Amino acid sequence: MDTKLLFQDAAGFQTPMLAVFAVDIASGKDADPLAALLTTSDAVTDAAAKVLASGEFKATLGETLLLHAPGGLKAERLLIVGLGKAKALSVDEVRKGAGAAVRAAKPLGVREMAIAFPEDHALSDEHLETLPCKLMSRALVEGAELAEMDWDTYRSDRKDRSVRALSVIAHEAEKLTREEIQEGFDEGLIVAAAQNFTRSLVNEPGNVLTPTELGKRAAAMCAEVGLKCEVHSTKKLHELKMGAFWAVAQGSEEPPALIVMTYEPPLGKGAAKDAPVIGLVGKGITFDTGGISIKPAEGMEKMKYDMAGAGAMIGAMLAIAQLKPKVKVIGVVCSAENMPDGKAFKPGDVVTAMSGKTIEVVNTDAEGRLVLADGLHYAKTLGCTHLVDAATLTGACVVALGMINAGLFSNDDAASDQFQAATKISGEKFWRLPCTDDYKEHIKSQIADMMNTGKNRAGGAISAAMFLKEFVGETPWVHLDIAGCAWNEETKPWMANGPSGIAVRSIVEWVRGYSG
Ligand code: BES
Ligand code: ZN
Ligand code: ZN
Repeated sequence: MDTKLLFQDAAGFQTPMLAVFAVDIASGKDADPLAALLTTSDAVTDAAAKVLASGEFKATLGETLLLHAPGGLKAERLLIVGLGKAKALSVDEVRKGAGAAVRAAKPLGVREMAIAFPEDHALSDEHLETLPCKLMSRALVEGAELAEMDWDTYRSDRKDRSVRALSVIAHEAEKLTREEIQEGFDEGLIVAAAQNFTRSLVNEPGNVLTPTELGKRAAAMCAEVGLKCEVHSTKKLHELKMGAFWAVAQGSEEPPALIVMTYEPPLGKGAAKDAPVIGLVGKGITFDTGGISIKPAEGMEKMKYDMAGAGAMIGAMLAIAQLKPKVKVIGVVCSAENMPDGKAFKPGDVVTAMSGKTIEVVNTDAEGRLVLADGLHYAKTLGCTHLVDAATLTGACVVALGMINAGLFSNDDAASDQFQAATKISGEKFWRLPCTDDYKEHIKSQIADMMNTGKNRAGGAISAAMFLKEFVGETPWVHLDIAGCAWNEETKPWMANGPSGIAVRSIVEWVRGYSG
Protein backbone atom coordinates (compact mmCIF):
# COMPACT_ATOMS: atom_id res chain seq x y z
CA MET A 1 0.00 0.00 0.00
CA ASP A 2 1.33 3.41 -0.92
CA THR A 3 0.65 5.36 2.26
CA LYS A 4 1.05 9.13 2.46
CA LEU A 5 0.56 11.75 5.13
CA LEU A 6 -1.04 14.99 3.99
CA PHE A 7 -1.80 18.09 5.97
CA GLN A 8 -4.97 19.52 4.53
CA ASP A 9 -8.70 19.89 4.91
CA ALA A 10 -10.45 16.49 4.83
CA ALA A 11 -13.66 17.89 3.31
CA GLY A 12 -11.79 19.24 0.31
CA PHE A 13 -9.84 16.03 -0.35
CA GLN A 14 -10.84 14.19 -3.49
CA THR A 15 -10.89 10.45 -2.89
CA PRO A 16 -13.08 7.42 -3.61
CA MET A 17 -13.53 6.98 0.15
CA LEU A 18 -12.89 9.15 3.18
CA ALA A 19 -12.95 7.37 6.53
CA VAL A 20 -13.64 9.35 9.69
CA PHE A 21 -13.64 8.06 13.25
CA ALA A 22 -16.53 8.25 15.68
CA VAL A 23 -16.78 7.55 19.41
CA ASP A 24 -19.70 6.87 21.70
CA ILE A 25 -19.97 9.89 24.00
CA ALA A 26 -23.05 8.74 25.92
CA SER A 27 -22.46 9.01 29.64
CA GLY A 28 -24.10 6.91 32.32
CA LYS A 29 -24.26 3.14 32.49
CA ASP A 30 -27.62 2.61 30.80
CA ALA A 31 -27.58 5.57 28.43
CA ASP A 32 -28.24 4.87 24.76
CA PRO A 33 -25.14 5.14 22.60
CA LEU A 34 -24.50 8.58 21.18
CA ALA A 35 -22.04 8.71 18.32
CA ALA A 36 -19.85 11.77 17.75
CA LEU A 37 -17.29 12.22 14.98
CA LEU A 38 -13.65 12.89 15.79
CA THR A 39 -13.33 15.73 13.35
CA THR A 40 -13.18 19.51 13.53
CA SER A 41 -14.49 19.82 9.97
CA ASP A 42 -17.99 21.31 9.89
CA ALA A 43 -18.53 19.93 6.39
CA VAL A 44 -17.74 16.36 7.50
CA THR A 45 -19.91 16.78 10.59
CA ASP A 46 -22.80 18.07 8.47
CA ALA A 47 -22.47 15.24 5.96
CA ALA A 48 -22.89 12.66 8.72
CA ALA A 49 -25.37 14.60 10.86
CA LYS A 50 -28.55 12.85 9.72
CA VAL A 51 -27.38 9.30 10.02
CA LEU A 52 -25.77 9.97 13.38
CA ALA A 53 -28.98 11.58 14.64
CA SER A 54 -30.90 8.45 13.61
CA GLY A 55 -29.09 6.50 16.29
CA GLU A 56 -28.53 3.61 13.85
CA PHE A 57 -24.78 3.86 14.22
CA LYS A 58 -23.56 3.00 17.70
CA ALA A 59 -19.84 3.70 17.22
CA THR A 60 -18.84 0.34 18.69
CA LEU A 61 -15.23 -0.60 18.02
CA GLY A 62 -14.80 -1.70 14.40
CA GLU A 63 -18.39 -0.88 13.40
CA THR A 64 -18.57 0.88 10.02
CA LEU A 65 -21.25 2.78 8.13
CA LEU A 66 -20.96 3.84 4.51
CA LEU A 67 -22.54 6.91 2.92
CA HIS A 68 -22.41 7.51 -0.82
CA ALA A 69 -22.06 10.97 -2.35
CA PRO A 70 -21.83 12.76 0.98
CA GLY A 71 -23.05 16.33 0.59
CA GLY A 72 -20.47 19.07 0.87
CA LEU A 73 -17.45 16.73 0.60
CA LYS A 74 -15.14 16.10 -2.32
CA ALA A 75 -14.99 12.39 -1.35
CA GLU A 76 -17.20 9.95 -3.28
CA ARG A 77 -17.96 7.98 -0.11
CA LEU A 78 -17.84 8.74 3.58
CA LEU A 79 -17.06 5.80 5.86
CA ILE A 80 -17.81 6.33 9.53
CA VAL A 81 -15.72 4.04 11.75
CA GLY A 82 -16.56 3.36 15.39
CA LEU A 83 -13.84 3.42 18.04
CA GLY A 84 -16.07 2.50 21.00
CA LYS A 85 -16.65 4.51 24.16
CA ALA A 86 -14.99 7.93 24.22
CA LYS A 87 -13.95 7.39 27.84
CA ALA A 88 -12.14 4.16 27.02
CA LEU A 89 -10.37 5.50 23.96
CA SER A 90 -6.70 4.52 23.70
CA VAL A 91 -4.20 4.24 20.87
CA ASP A 92 -5.20 0.62 20.52
CA GLU A 93 -8.69 1.63 19.41
CA VAL A 94 -7.16 3.99 16.86
CA ARG A 95 -5.04 1.09 15.55
CA LYS A 96 -8.05 -1.19 15.28
CA GLY A 97 -10.31 1.53 13.87
CA ALA A 98 -7.86 2.33 11.09
CA GLY A 99 -7.70 -1.38 10.34
CA ALA A 100 -11.47 -1.63 10.23
CA ALA A 101 -11.57 1.28 7.76
CA VAL A 102 -9.17 -0.47 5.37
CA ARG A 103 -10.90 -3.82 5.71
CA ALA A 104 -14.27 -2.20 5.00
CA ALA A 105 -12.87 -0.81 1.75
CA LYS A 106 -11.38 -4.07 0.48
CA PRO A 107 -14.53 -6.07 -0.37
CA LEU A 108 -15.97 -3.00 -2.11
CA GLY A 109 -13.04 -2.96 -4.50
CA VAL A 110 -12.10 0.53 -3.37
CA ARG A 111 -8.44 0.96 -4.37
CA GLU A 112 -7.70 4.34 -2.95
CA MET A 113 -8.87 5.83 0.27
CA ALA A 114 -8.18 8.41 2.91
CA ILE A 115 -8.43 8.33 6.69
CA ALA A 116 -8.99 11.53 8.60
CA PHE A 117 -6.64 11.79 11.58
CA PRO A 118 -8.73 11.70 14.78
CA GLU A 119 -9.15 15.17 16.18
CA ASP A 120 -11.78 17.04 17.99
CA HIS A 121 -13.29 18.72 20.92
CA ALA A 122 -14.37 15.17 21.83
CA LEU A 123 -10.65 14.55 22.42
CA SER A 124 -10.38 16.45 25.67
CA ASP A 125 -7.09 17.49 27.24
CA GLU A 126 -7.41 14.47 29.45
CA HIS A 127 -7.57 12.29 26.35
CA LEU A 128 -4.57 13.90 24.78
CA GLU A 129 -2.53 13.07 27.89
CA THR A 130 -3.19 9.38 27.37
CA LEU A 131 -3.31 9.62 23.59
CA PRO A 132 -0.12 11.45 22.61
CA CYS A 133 -0.49 12.39 18.99
CA LYS A 134 2.75 10.72 17.90
CA LEU A 135 1.49 7.39 19.22
CA MET A 136 -1.94 7.93 17.71
CA SER A 137 -0.38 8.64 14.36
CA ARG A 138 1.83 5.59 14.61
CA ALA A 139 -1.03 3.32 15.68
CA LEU A 140 -3.24 4.57 12.88
CA VAL A 141 -0.67 3.69 10.24
CA GLU A 142 0.12 0.34 11.85
CA GLY A 143 -3.55 -0.62 11.97
CA ALA A 144 -4.12 0.32 8.35
CA GLU A 145 -1.03 -1.50 7.07
CA LEU A 146 -1.72 -4.66 9.07
CA ALA A 147 -5.33 -4.71 7.88
CA GLU A 148 -4.34 -4.57 4.24
CA MET A 149 -2.88 -8.09 4.35
CA ASP A 150 -4.88 -11.15 3.32
CA TRP A 151 -3.47 -14.63 3.28
CA ASP A 152 -4.81 -16.02 0.02
CA THR A 153 -1.51 -16.09 -1.87
CA TYR A 154 -1.90 -19.77 -2.70
CA ARG A 155 -5.49 -19.56 -3.97
CA SER A 156 -5.87 -19.56 -7.74
CA ASP A 157 -9.32 -17.99 -7.40
CA ARG A 158 -8.15 -15.11 -5.27
CA LYS A 159 -9.40 -11.69 -6.22
CA ASP A 160 -7.13 -8.72 -5.90
CA ARG A 161 -8.85 -6.69 -3.23
CA SER A 162 -5.91 -4.60 -2.23
CA VAL A 163 -6.20 -0.99 -1.23
CA ARG A 164 -3.31 0.42 -3.21
CA ALA A 165 -3.13 3.95 -1.90
CA LEU A 166 -3.94 5.42 1.47
CA SER A 167 -3.77 9.08 2.41
CA VAL A 168 -3.79 10.00 6.06
CA ILE A 169 -5.31 13.47 6.24
CA ALA A 170 -4.21 15.45 9.26
CA HIS A 171 -4.65 18.93 10.61
CA GLU A 172 -2.24 20.77 12.78
CA ALA A 173 -3.62 21.92 16.09
CA GLU A 174 -2.26 22.96 19.45
CA LYS A 175 -1.81 19.42 20.74
CA LEU A 176 -1.43 17.84 17.32
CA THR A 177 1.87 19.09 15.96
CA ARG A 178 3.00 18.38 12.45
CA GLU A 179 6.35 16.99 13.64
CA GLU A 180 4.84 14.52 16.03
CA ILE A 181 2.25 13.31 13.57
CA GLN A 182 4.96 12.89 10.94
CA GLU A 183 7.31 11.05 13.32
CA GLY A 184 4.58 8.67 14.42
CA PHE A 185 3.57 8.11 10.82
CA ASP A 186 7.15 7.29 9.75
CA GLU A 187 7.66 4.88 12.65
CA GLY A 188 4.30 3.25 12.03
CA LEU A 189 5.22 2.48 8.43
CA ILE A 190 8.51 0.86 9.48
CA VAL A 191 7.07 -1.19 12.32
CA ALA A 192 4.00 -2.35 10.38
CA ALA A 193 6.09 -3.40 7.38
CA ALA A 194 8.30 -5.40 9.73
CA GLN A 195 5.31 -7.05 11.37
CA ASN A 196 3.81 -7.84 7.96
CA PHE A 197 7.13 -9.37 6.91
CA THR A 198 6.95 -11.62 9.97
CA ARG A 199 3.37 -12.53 9.15
CA SER A 200 4.27 -13.43 5.58
CA LEU A 201 7.02 -15.76 6.85
CA VAL A 202 4.71 -17.41 9.38
CA ASN A 203 2.04 -17.89 6.73
CA GLU A 204 4.30 -19.99 4.53
CA PRO A 205 3.70 -23.74 4.48
CA GLY A 206 6.40 -26.06 5.78
CA ASN A 207 7.27 -27.41 2.34
CA VAL A 208 8.08 -23.91 1.10
CA LEU A 209 9.63 -22.39 4.20
CA THR A 210 12.28 -24.93 5.19
CA PRO A 211 15.07 -23.85 7.56
CA THR A 212 17.26 -23.22 4.52
CA GLU A 213 14.60 -21.03 2.93
CA LEU A 214 14.08 -19.13 6.20
CA GLY A 215 17.82 -18.46 6.19
CA LYS A 216 17.66 -17.19 2.61
CA ARG A 217 14.79 -14.84 3.37
CA ALA A 218 16.48 -13.51 6.48
CA ALA A 219 19.71 -12.98 4.53
CA ALA A 220 17.87 -11.18 1.71
CA MET A 221 16.13 -8.91 4.20
CA CYS A 222 19.43 -8.15 5.96
CA ALA A 223 21.15 -7.35 2.67
CA GLU A 224 18.38 -4.92 1.82
CA VAL A 225 18.64 -2.92 5.03
CA GLY A 226 22.39 -3.24 5.65
CA LEU A 227 22.46 -5.75 8.50
CA LYS A 228 25.24 -8.31 8.79
CA CYS A 229 23.84 -11.81 8.41
CA GLU A 230 25.40 -15.25 8.64
CA VAL A 231 23.48 -18.43 7.93
CA HIS A 232 25.12 -21.60 9.23
CA SER A 233 24.07 -25.22 9.06
CA THR A 234 24.99 -28.71 10.27
CA LYS A 235 28.77 -28.23 10.26
CA LYS A 236 28.62 -25.15 12.48
CA LEU A 237 26.19 -26.84 14.89
CA HIS A 238 28.76 -29.61 15.35
CA GLU A 239 31.65 -27.13 15.66
CA LEU A 240 29.79 -25.23 18.36
CA LYS A 241 28.79 -28.52 20.04
CA MET A 242 25.14 -27.56 19.88
CA GLY A 243 23.98 -31.03 20.91
CA ALA A 244 20.48 -29.92 21.90
CA PHE A 245 19.76 -28.05 18.66
CA TRP A 246 21.26 -30.88 16.60
CA ALA A 247 19.17 -33.51 18.41
CA VAL A 248 16.04 -31.87 17.00
CA ALA A 249 17.51 -31.29 13.55
CA GLN A 250 18.98 -34.76 13.05
CA GLY A 251 15.71 -36.47 12.11
CA SER A 252 15.01 -34.32 9.07
CA GLU A 253 16.27 -34.46 5.50
CA GLU A 254 16.16 -30.67 5.65
CA PRO A 255 19.35 -29.26 7.10
CA PRO A 256 19.02 -26.87 10.06
CA ALA A 257 19.78 -23.17 9.87
CA LEU A 258 21.48 -21.10 12.53
CA ILE A 259 20.81 -17.52 11.49
CA VAL A 260 22.80 -14.70 13.08
CA MET A 261 21.79 -11.12 12.24
CA THR A 262 23.77 -8.21 13.66
CA TYR A 263 22.77 -4.58 14.01
CA GLU A 264 25.56 -2.15 14.94
CA PRO A 265 24.42 1.22 16.28
CA PRO A 266 25.64 4.41 14.59
CA LEU A 267 29.31 5.00 15.52
CA GLY A 268 30.03 6.43 18.93
CA LYS A 269 26.51 5.82 20.13
CA GLY A 270 25.80 2.78 22.21
CA ALA A 271 29.26 1.57 21.29
CA ALA A 272 30.85 2.11 24.73
CA LYS A 273 32.65 -0.92 26.17
CA ASP A 274 30.06 -1.52 28.87
CA ALA A 275 27.05 -0.67 26.66
CA PRO A 276 24.36 -3.33 26.62
CA VAL A 277 24.14 -5.81 23.75
CA ILE A 278 20.66 -7.15 23.18
CA GLY A 279 20.11 -10.72 22.01
CA LEU A 280 16.90 -11.72 20.25
CA VAL A 281 16.57 -15.50 20.11
CA GLY A 282 13.80 -17.16 18.09
CA LYS A 283 12.40 -20.69 17.88
CA GLY A 284 12.30 -21.52 14.20
CA ILE A 285 10.75 -24.98 13.88
CA THR A 286 9.48 -24.79 10.31
CA PHE A 287 7.31 -27.83 10.97
CA ASP A 288 6.73 -29.66 14.22
CA THR A 289 5.45 -33.20 13.78
CA GLY A 290 6.41 -33.92 17.37
CA GLY A 291 9.15 -36.26 16.13
CA ILE A 292 9.09 -39.82 17.51
CA SER A 293 6.68 -38.56 20.21
CA ILE A 294 4.47 -37.80 17.23
CA LYS A 295 1.53 -35.42 17.47
CA PRO A 296 -2.04 -36.50 16.65
CA ALA A 297 -2.97 -35.94 12.99
CA GLU A 298 -5.82 -33.60 13.84
CA GLY A 299 -4.60 -30.04 13.76
CA MET A 300 -1.02 -31.01 12.96
CA GLU A 301 -1.13 -28.86 9.81
CA LYS A 302 -1.05 -25.81 12.05
CA MET A 303 2.44 -26.67 13.20
CA LYS A 304 3.87 -24.79 10.23
CA TYR A 305 3.60 -21.75 12.48
CA ASP A 306 6.05 -23.21 14.96
CA MET A 307 8.62 -20.77 13.59
CA ALA A 308 6.62 -17.70 14.64
CA GLY A 309 9.20 -16.81 17.31
CA ALA A 310 11.93 -16.85 14.68
CA GLY A 311 9.69 -14.84 12.36
CA ALA A 312 9.17 -12.25 15.10
CA MET A 313 12.92 -11.84 15.61
CA ILE A 314 13.62 -11.50 11.89
CA GLY A 315 10.84 -8.89 11.61
CA ALA A 316 12.11 -7.08 14.69
CA MET A 317 15.61 -6.90 13.17
CA LEU A 318 14.10 -5.38 10.01
CA ALA A 319 12.46 -2.61 12.06
CA ILE A 320 15.56 -2.09 14.21
CA ALA A 321 17.74 -1.66 11.13
CA GLN A 322 15.57 1.28 10.10
CA LEU A 323 14.74 2.83 13.47
CA LYS A 324 18.44 2.77 14.37
CA PRO A 325 18.39 2.63 18.18
CA LYS A 326 21.70 3.41 19.89
CA VAL A 327 22.31 -0.13 21.07
CA LYS A 328 23.85 -3.22 19.50
CA VAL A 329 21.37 -5.99 18.72
CA ILE A 330 22.09 -9.58 17.69
CA GLY A 331 19.31 -11.80 16.36
CA VAL A 332 19.85 -15.55 16.68
CA VAL A 333 17.40 -17.89 15.00
CA CYS A 334 17.53 -21.64 15.55
CA SER A 335 15.66 -23.27 12.74
CA ALA A 336 15.01 -26.97 12.15
CA GLU A 337 12.26 -29.35 11.16
CA ASN A 338 11.12 -31.77 13.86
CA MET A 339 10.58 -35.10 12.11
CA PRO A 340 10.34 -38.79 13.01
CA ASP A 341 12.94 -40.80 11.11
CA GLY A 342 15.47 -43.60 11.41
CA LYS A 343 17.97 -40.95 12.41
CA ALA A 344 15.64 -38.97 14.64
CA PHE A 345 16.37 -38.42 18.33
CA LYS A 346 14.36 -40.60 20.69
CA PRO A 347 12.75 -40.41 24.09
CA GLY A 348 15.38 -41.54 26.56
CA ASP A 349 18.29 -40.07 24.61
CA VAL A 350 20.71 -37.96 26.60
CA VAL A 351 22.17 -34.99 24.75
CA THR A 352 24.79 -32.43 25.74
CA ALA A 353 23.93 -28.79 25.08
CA MET A 354 26.50 -26.23 23.94
CA SER A 355 26.76 -24.99 27.54
CA GLY A 356 27.92 -28.47 28.60
CA LYS A 357 24.73 -29.30 30.48
CA THR A 358 23.21 -32.71 29.83
CA ILE A 359 19.55 -33.22 28.98
CA GLU A 360 17.43 -36.34 29.20
CA VAL A 361 14.97 -36.23 26.31
CA VAL A 362 11.66 -37.47 27.67
CA ASN A 363 9.48 -36.20 24.85
CA THR A 364 10.73 -35.28 21.39
CA ASP A 365 7.75 -32.95 20.99
CA ALA A 366 9.31 -30.63 23.57
CA GLU A 367 11.83 -29.63 20.91
CA GLY A 368 11.55 -25.86 21.04
CA ARG A 369 13.29 -25.56 24.38
CA LEU A 370 16.14 -27.72 23.04
CA VAL A 371 16.91 -25.48 20.09
CA LEU A 372 16.49 -22.36 22.27
CA ALA A 373 18.83 -23.76 24.94
CA ASP A 374 21.68 -23.64 22.45
CA GLY A 375 20.46 -20.39 20.87
CA LEU A 376 20.37 -18.58 24.21
CA HIS A 377 23.76 -19.89 25.27
CA TYR A 378 25.26 -19.01 21.90
CA ALA A 379 23.85 -15.46 22.11
CA LYS A 380 25.66 -15.08 25.43
CA THR A 381 28.94 -16.21 23.87
CA LEU A 382 28.42 -13.52 21.22
CA GLY A 383 28.42 -10.94 24.01
CA CYS A 384 24.73 -10.40 24.64
CA THR A 385 24.09 -8.79 28.02
CA HIS A 386 20.28 -8.88 27.79
CA LEU A 387 18.21 -11.62 26.19
CA VAL A 388 14.70 -12.03 24.93
CA ASP A 389 13.38 -15.17 23.29
CA ALA A 390 10.10 -15.76 21.53
CA ALA A 391 8.65 -19.17 20.84
CA THR A 392 5.44 -21.03 20.15
CA LEU A 393 6.66 -23.14 23.01
CA THR A 394 3.83 -24.85 24.85
CA GLY A 395 0.21 -25.85 24.50
CA ALA A 396 0.11 -25.40 28.27
CA CYS A 397 0.55 -21.65 27.84
CA VAL A 398 -2.51 -21.60 25.59
CA VAL A 399 -4.45 -23.51 28.25
CA ALA A 400 -3.32 -21.05 30.92
CA LEU A 401 -3.83 -17.74 29.13
CA GLY A 402 -6.03 -18.45 26.13
CA MET A 403 -5.44 -16.48 22.98
CA ILE A 404 -5.61 -12.95 24.38
CA ASN A 405 -2.41 -12.73 26.40
CA ALA A 406 0.88 -14.35 25.51
CA GLY A 407 3.03 -15.65 28.36
CA LEU A 408 5.98 -13.67 29.71
CA PHE A 409 8.61 -15.17 32.01
CA SER A 410 11.70 -13.47 33.31
CA ASN A 411 14.59 -13.84 35.72
CA ASP A 412 14.89 -10.06 36.07
CA ASP A 413 12.22 -7.65 37.25
CA ALA A 414 13.80 -4.63 35.56
CA ALA A 415 13.94 -6.32 32.16
CA SER A 416 10.41 -7.63 32.60
CA ASP A 417 9.08 -4.24 33.69
CA GLN A 418 10.77 -2.61 30.74
CA PHE A 419 9.11 -5.14 28.48
CA GLN A 420 5.71 -4.47 30.00
CA ALA A 421 6.32 -0.72 29.53
CA ALA A 422 7.02 -1.43 25.85
CA THR A 423 3.67 -3.20 25.52
CA LYS A 424 1.93 0.03 26.57
CA ILE A 425 3.16 1.45 23.28
CA SER A 426 2.82 -1.70 21.18
CA GLY A 427 -0.69 -2.51 22.37
CA GLU A 428 0.26 -6.22 22.60
CA LYS A 429 -0.73 -8.20 25.66
CA PHE A 430 1.68 -10.31 27.69
CA TRP A 431 0.95 -11.76 31.12
CA ARG A 432 3.81 -12.57 33.44
CA LEU A 433 3.92 -16.07 34.88
CA PRO A 434 6.42 -17.27 37.48
CA CYS A 435 9.68 -19.09 36.90
CA THR A 436 11.12 -18.95 40.40
CA ASP A 437 13.54 -21.63 41.55
CA ASP A 438 10.89 -23.47 43.55
CA TYR A 439 9.71 -24.84 40.18
CA LYS A 440 13.11 -26.37 39.45
CA GLU A 441 11.77 -29.69 40.74
CA HIS A 442 9.66 -29.92 37.56
CA ILE A 443 12.60 -30.66 35.31
CA LYS A 444 14.79 -32.70 37.66
CA SER A 445 16.17 -35.82 36.00
CA GLN A 446 17.59 -38.97 37.60
CA ILE A 447 20.16 -39.50 34.92
CA ALA A 448 21.06 -36.08 33.48
CA ASP A 449 21.26 -32.44 34.57
CA MET A 450 17.63 -31.93 33.58
CA MET A 451 14.89 -33.42 31.47
CA ASN A 452 13.15 -31.68 28.62
CA THR A 453 9.60 -31.91 30.01
CA GLY A 454 7.97 -31.45 33.37
CA LYS A 455 7.37 -34.50 35.61
CA ASN A 456 3.71 -34.20 34.66
CA ARG A 457 1.54 -31.76 32.76
CA ALA A 458 1.02 -29.38 35.68
CA GLY A 459 2.40 -25.92 34.93
CA GLY A 460 3.79 -27.03 31.57
CA ALA A 461 4.57 -23.51 30.36
CA ILE A 462 6.52 -22.89 33.55
CA SER A 463 8.48 -26.16 33.19
CA ALA A 464 9.53 -25.01 29.72
CA ALA A 465 10.59 -21.60 31.06
CA MET A 466 12.54 -23.27 33.89
CA PHE A 467 14.36 -25.33 31.30
CA LEU A 468 15.38 -22.23 29.34
CA LYS A 469 16.39 -20.48 32.54
CA GLU A 470 19.12 -23.12 32.98
CA PHE A 471 20.84 -21.69 29.91
CA VAL A 472 20.65 -17.95 30.55
CA GLY A 473 22.30 -17.95 33.97
CA GLU A 474 22.45 -14.47 35.48
CA THR A 475 21.89 -12.63 32.20
CA PRO A 476 18.67 -10.56 32.35
CA TRP A 477 16.21 -12.47 30.18
CA VAL A 478 12.61 -12.27 29.05
CA HIS A 479 10.94 -15.36 27.60
CA LEU A 480 7.80 -14.95 25.49
CA ASP A 481 5.60 -18.00 24.97
CA ILE A 482 3.48 -16.94 21.99
CA ALA A 483 1.86 -20.32 21.20
CA GLY A 484 -1.66 -18.94 21.78
CA CYS A 485 -1.26 -15.59 20.04
CA ALA A 486 0.83 -16.18 16.94
CA TRP A 487 -2.08 -17.40 14.84
CA ASN A 488 -5.51 -15.73 14.90
CA GLU A 489 -8.24 -18.28 14.40
CA GLU A 490 -10.90 -15.69 13.66
CA THR A 491 -11.05 -12.73 11.32
CA LYS A 492 -11.58 -9.46 13.15
CA PRO A 493 -12.99 -6.28 11.60
CA TRP A 494 -9.41 -4.93 11.67
CA MET A 495 -7.35 -7.99 10.82
CA ALA A 496 -7.56 -11.11 8.67
CA ASN A 497 -7.29 -14.45 10.42
CA GLY A 498 -3.98 -16.21 10.16
CA PRO A 499 -0.52 -15.14 11.29
CA SER A 500 -0.62 -12.24 13.76
CA GLY A 501 2.98 -11.09 13.89
CA ILE A 502 2.72 -10.95 17.68
CA ALA A 503 5.76 -9.71 19.61
CA VAL A 504 7.44 -7.76 16.81
CA ARG A 505 6.14 -4.39 18.01
CA SER A 506 6.87 -5.08 21.68
CA ILE A 507 10.35 -6.44 21.08
CA VAL A 508 11.28 -3.44 18.93
CA GLU A 509 10.03 -1.06 21.62
CA TRP A 510 11.79 -3.02 24.39
CA VAL A 511 15.08 -2.83 22.49
CA ARG A 512 14.64 0.93 22.01
CA GLY A 513 14.36 1.20 25.78
CA TYR A 514 18.07 0.22 25.95
CA SER A 515 19.08 2.85 23.40
CA GLY A 516 22.05 4.71 24.99
N1 BES B 1 5.09 -26.35 19.12
C1 BES B 1 4.56 -26.98 20.26
C2 BES B 1 3.74 -26.06 21.14
C3 BES B 1 2.46 -25.53 20.57
C4 BES B 1 1.26 -26.10 20.90
C5 BES B 1 2.45 -24.41 19.78
C6 BES B 1 0.09 -25.59 20.42
C7 BES B 1 1.29 -23.90 19.28
C8 BES B 1 0.10 -24.49 19.62
C9 BES B 1 5.68 -27.54 21.13
O1 BES B 1 6.82 -27.92 20.46
C10 BES B 1 5.13 -28.73 21.82
O2 BES B 1 4.72 -29.63 21.17
N2 BES B 1 5.12 -28.69 23.15
C11 BES B 1 4.57 -29.75 23.92
C12 BES B 1 5.43 -29.92 25.12
C13 BES B 1 5.13 -31.17 25.91
C14 BES B 1 5.50 -32.39 25.13
C15 BES B 1 5.91 -31.13 27.20
C16 BES B 1 3.16 -29.37 24.32
O3 BES B 1 2.91 -28.20 24.58
O4 BES B 1 2.32 -30.24 24.33
ZN1 ZN C 1 6.74 -29.90 19.73
ZN1 ZN D 1 7.19 -26.92 18.66
